[in-house]
Amino acid sequence: MATVLVITCSPRGERSVSSALTTRFAQEWARHHPQDTIRLRDLGHHPVPHVSEMWIVGASAGADSQTAASREAIAISDTLIEEFLAADRYVIGVPMYNLNIPSTLKAWIDQIVRAGRTFAVGPTGYEGLVKNKKALFITTSGGNYTAGTPLAALNFQEPYLRAIFGFIGVTDVRFVTAAGMNQGRDEAAKSRGKAERTLDDLSISW
Ligand SMILES: Cc1cc2nc3c(=O)[nH]c(=O)nc-3n(C[C@H](O)[C@H](O)[C@H](O)COP(=O)(O)O)c2cc1C
Repeated sequence: MATVLVITCSPRGERSVSSALTTRFAQEWARHHPQDTIRLRDLGHHPVPHVSEMWIVGASAGADSQTAASREAIAISDTLIEEFLAADRYVIGVPMYNLNIPSTLKAWIDQIVRAGRTFAVGPTGYEGLVKNKKALFITTSGGNYTAGTPLAALNFQEPYLRAIFGFIGVTDVRFVTAAGMNQGRDEAAKSRGKAERTLDDLSISW
């Protein structure tokens, strides 16, 4: 029995391709794995706050030196980290925005990447504390950034997600991409269909 945390971050609701693919995967996963618990977080419509000055005070203070204000500032981070650590798998739908991830997802990452909670700083350097988890990123983009194409070097979305999840210990990651969403109806439908087939296979076993 596993807990799957499903995150979407497009604000486009019903029109969002990344959210549609992610929701479809979650529904198929639930059908094939009825014993699992699915938790949903919609950052596109319910964004989390940015890191503030008091947040940084709270995140760096020990439990004994918190003030009421610093405790309040990191309360959302505590909640999001608990939700994150309680899950065994992460399924995250991510549109490409300006060659990277949407700021709503970055704000959530800033809340859950925290010293002493999801990574440690030791004598030998940084250590990820989030062990034995799997992440599936379902990405979409208007253009095509496939390896070997001229635009590949401009894809900061996938390398960044690999780096930051790896930093906290989540190294078992997989990407399924529907690229070319703005490259004509045929190209978009072909790319989306291919992603759907891959995701349907993964919803049986991943
Ligand atoms: C603010 C914004 C920035 C975007 N930046 C890029 C980009 O840098 N490269 C790209 O290929 N597509 C870009 N797109 C297109 C989206 O990645 C594409 O339409 C994607 O399918 C949107 O995901 P969604 O359907 O889940 O909302 C951008 C779209 C928006 C709204």
